[in-house]
Amino acid sequence: MNAIVVGCGGRARSWVEVCRRNKGVGIVAYVEPSPEQRAKFAAALQIPSEPLFVSLRDALKSVKADFVIDVTPPAVHEEVAMQSFEAGLHVLGEKPISDDFAAAKRIVAASERYKRTHMITQNYRFGATPRTAHRLLKRRVIGKPGQVAIGFYKAWATRTGTHYTELPFMFVKDMGVHHFDLMRYVLAKEPVKVWARTWNPPWGWHKGDAAHTAVFEFTDNLMVTHHACACCVGKQTPWNGEWRIDGPEGSLTWEEDKLFITYEYPAALEKSRREVPLDTMPVSGQDAILAEFLAAVKEAREPECSGRDNLKSLAMTFACVKSAQEKRTVEMAEIFG
Ligand SMILES: NC(=O)c1ccc[n+]([C@@H]2O[C@H](COP(=O)([O-])OP(=O)(O)OC[C@H]3O[C@@H](n4cnc5c(N)ncnc54)[C@H](O)[C@@H]3O)[C@@H](O)[C@H]2O)c1
Repeated sequence: MNAIVVGCGGRARSWVEVCRRNKGVGIVAYVEPSPEQRAKFAAALQIPSEPLFVSLRDALKSVKADFVIDVTPPAVHEEVAMQSFEAGLHVLGEKPISDDFAAAKRIVAASERYKRTHMITQNYRFGATPRTAHRLLKRRVIGKPGQVAIGFYKAWATRTGTHYTELPFMFVKDMGVHHFDLMRYVLAKEPVKVWARTWNPPWGWHKGDAAHTAVFEFTDNLMVTHHACACCVGKQTPWNGEWRIDGPEGSLTWEEDKLFITYEYPAALEKSRREVPLDTMPVSGQDAILAEFLAAVKEAREPECSGRDNLKSLAMTFACVKSAQEKRTVEMAEIFG
């Protein structure tokens, strides 16, 4: 299938590499309005000038493609999605669907109206740790989980002057959506409400709040706390964060991306703590996303992480921001309006 890569910044580079190692995909055009970015990108990836376009409209007039990989900033996603769907193309869109929830809903509605496949790149859940944890929890290895604590501490977005450091609530919105989507996937439950508090540690380099605690209530009274800091200069967690899932029969923890099942009380006869080998995956991360997207298009079915489903993960970021701003618990239903 033929793809157009729209937006030639940092993330697009890895998408080009992923496409180049996937035999089922050919990139027929690249779109980038900034001449400097175009030149840098072409030089770094050894792309001749012919397939480089200034706008998606120009590219659509000149090449025949099946889908778009949208790697533009979130505020541009609606424009890219609408033009692509209208032209009959499917869209593999970088997260988040949009920086505006109403726009995100319009994008999803358009994908349904035009009957085009629309998938969001929630690559975190396509990793071995979450896949194995999801499978183990389904098998009830610790009984029915009742509470979860997730810690996430990073020196994140260290290049100042980007939208990541200049705009408000970027950590919750940009990184939060990965972890919130992981919660929905790993726990196989949906969020009902959230209380969140955000703040900015005094030594940080982000203009917006770079730290938060969010307490989610999921279906079945499952309580999930997410505590995080984007200007952490001390011990860093992995990108997945450190997880502790507690049930009536023990705990499942992710420690440095390794999984452990622990039964400590009452003392078990056998050793109570063991590391669980991670499931092997033929492909993971972006490669797995691309494989899922291509399969969904071919089979004319809804992909995992479809835009429709991903609205529920995105809504969690908007609910957190609303809760922090209004200093109250926010029901997820309020975000869907
Ligand atoms: N899934 C992940 O783990 C992950 C990681 C990094 C970034 N991202 C996402 O990827 C997207 C891009 O992020 P980035 O870090 O590459 O940003 P970036 O700023 O490096 O690149 C975006 C590029 O899009 C270009 N652009 C702007 N308007 C455009 C338009 N109308 N048409 C075509 N191109 C346009 C910009 O000039 C820029 O070159 C964001 O949504 C971001 O959240 C996801």
